[in-house]
Amino acid sequence: MSKKREVYFNGEFRPWDEANVHVMSHSFGRGSAIFEVIGFHDTPAGPAVFRLDEYLSRFWKSASLLEMEPPLTQSALQEAILKLVKRSELKSGFLKVYGFYPEISFNILPPQRKFQVAVCLFSAEEALGPLESPPRGVTACVSRWRRLDPQTVPIEAKVAANYVNGMVARMESREKGFDYAILLDTQGFLTEGGTESLFLVRDGRLLTSALGTVLQSITRKTLLEVAGTMGIETFTGLLKPDALDEADEIFFSGTSTKLLPVRQVGDRILNEVPGPLTRRLSERMAGIISGGDGQFRHWLFPA
Ligand SMILES: Cc1ncc(COP(=O)(O)O)c(C=O)c1O
Repeated sequence: MSKKREVYFNGEFRPWDEANVHVMSHSFGRGSAIFEVIGFHDTPAGPAVFRLDEYLSRFWKSASLLEMEPPLTQSALQEAILKLVKRSELKSGFLKVYGFYPEISFNILPPQRKFQVAVCLFSAEEALGPLESPPRGVTACVSRWRRLDPQTVPIEAKVAANYVNGMVARMESREKGFDYAILLDTQGFLTEGGTESLFLVRDGRLLTSALGTVLQSITRKTLLEVAGTMGIETFTGLLKPDALDEADEIFFSGTSTKLLPVRQVGDRILNEVPGPLTRRLSERMAGIISGGDGQFRHWLFPA
């Protein structure tokens, strides 16, 4: 991490160690912080943030679902984020954008609606640790924990409190000797991982669960769109757990995860990992995020 490590905090650039919130703040006690994880990548034109507009729109959507009032406009936050990346002198990495209530609160209702914003920056190594290249793939199992039901909380809000769900599922999978968890919904259909979308490939078709019980992932949306332009047939809908036994390829996806092939699901070992379609999509995505793909250059926001 560069020496100039700063946090965009409540409208100004502050040193990392000075971006603090009280332990009795509403967001600490109730998990009411909304957040985004956004990637920026090295391109011939310098570091560029991938689909920044989409991530910020989702941030605004989370705020609206929880009746939180942003303290600035979306374009002002976009500008601040690009400035933070530029000031960091990092070529690539990840941003965590938070919207939180800093006020001291004993009760469940937030003391006020207007939230504060903080943006922190991480190098890829710091965020993900050493990466395998090419990835050998991970192991996964179906968790006994079901994905949060949309009738209990707004699951489309990326809010800290919702993430206990993915945390316990992931902890359970670790205890059983697997790397990752796959969560079913309360009806028993496949949804996604704890913090990643789930894709299956069957007979050349790319399959994933429909929106409704899964997060509106930006990577998921991107992959479906890119696959369409590559002539790959896609399906979004209800998927039974049996689909895991029949899939030719399985992978997780997400902003920091990118495309993460699964080499074993439960007792089942998959053959070629990463499989051919996973590899094709990974290569295309690598070109897109690094500015080498003219068709999707409008997804990049140079810092
Ligand atoms: C539950 C869940 N699903 C999927 C994803 C992947 O979303 P994105 O591609 O927007 O990073 C995330 C990311 O944090 C997540 O938390």
